Amino acid sequence: MTQTPARVAIVTGAARGIGAATALRLAADGFAVAVIDLDEAATAATVGAIEAAGGRALGVGADVGDPEQVQAAVDRIAAELGPPVVLVNNAGVTRDNLLFKMTDADWDLVMHVHLRGSFLMTRACQRYMVDAKWGRVVNLSSTSALGNRGQANYATAKAGLQGFTKTLALELGKFGVTANAIAPGFIQTEMTKATAERLGRDWDEYVAERAAAIPVARGGVPEDIAHTVSFFVSEGAGFVSGQVVYVAGGPRT
Ligand SMILES: NC(=O)c1ccc[n+]([C@@H]2O[C@H](COP(=O)([O-])OP(=O)(O)OC[C@H]3O[C@@H](n4cnc5c(N)ncnc54)[C@H](O)[C@@H]3O)[C@@H](O)[C@H]2O)c1
Repeated sequence: MTQTPARVAIVTGAARGIGAATALRLAADGFAVAVIDLDEAATAATVGAIEAAGGRALGVGADVGDPEQVQAAVDRIAAELGPPVVLVNNAGVTRDNLLFKMTDADWDLVMHVHLRGSFLMTRACQRYMVDAKWGRVVNLSSTSALGNRGQANYATAKAGLQGFTKTLALELGKFGVTANAIAPGFIQTEMTKATAERLGRDWDEYVAERAAAIPVARGGVPEDIAHTVSFFVSEGAGFVSGQVVYVAGGPRT
């Protein structure tokens, strides 16, 4: 009996944090996983962890906001792993500052990675999903989409990703492709560690303070988000599209 080859998933920004946990989870779910991050060497730990667990992975270096690098990355993934039918747009950066201190470069970089990056990656991958008449796009939004002091750039990008997600759901639904967004609350990663550092806060104290304001009384971990990605990507979630799920340990409006 010949085995059906594993479906291929791409996770961007998967060298660490939420992206790495998501790549590992999708590999455990049976996908061959392309691990994209800014440079290929940085993907080695995630690729190694997937392989050590018996999965298949490919590390690819690319800036998701650069059209040529995106096309080259997706072409290579399609050639070496197979047609990508799952895309998790997770790569992200913060450049926080109050509006009056926010520079043009702070604004542009955040738009470049989150909005332009998700657009370019999705445009490059959609044809494989349409050809397969099956696909899943999951975009990483944030509770900051509802507004967050010091994050005019990031909040705008994360709200923009919700509109992008709903439009993808409308355009691609008839091809068997769903698109959904996850809006995490406070998740303990290098990104939030950097925020604590910028605020001059001790990490453990910062986590305890954030946890005290969260209904489930703890900070989130990357696996909390990976689990939600796994649901959206699953076969049974084919009737769930255009949704934004706040994964924040409590309700958000
Ligand atoms: N940590 C949180 O509390 C939190 C909350 C809400 C949303 N998010 C979102 O979840 C996603 C992952 O966050 P995280 O906390 O794991 O962050 P992280 O900083 O730990 O990891 C982000 C990864 O993205 C990569 N990256 C950055 N720019 C890139 C580019 N142009 N091309 C390719 N890769 C790039 C980085 O190198 C890094 O490996 C981000 O989109 C973030 O905005 C995080």
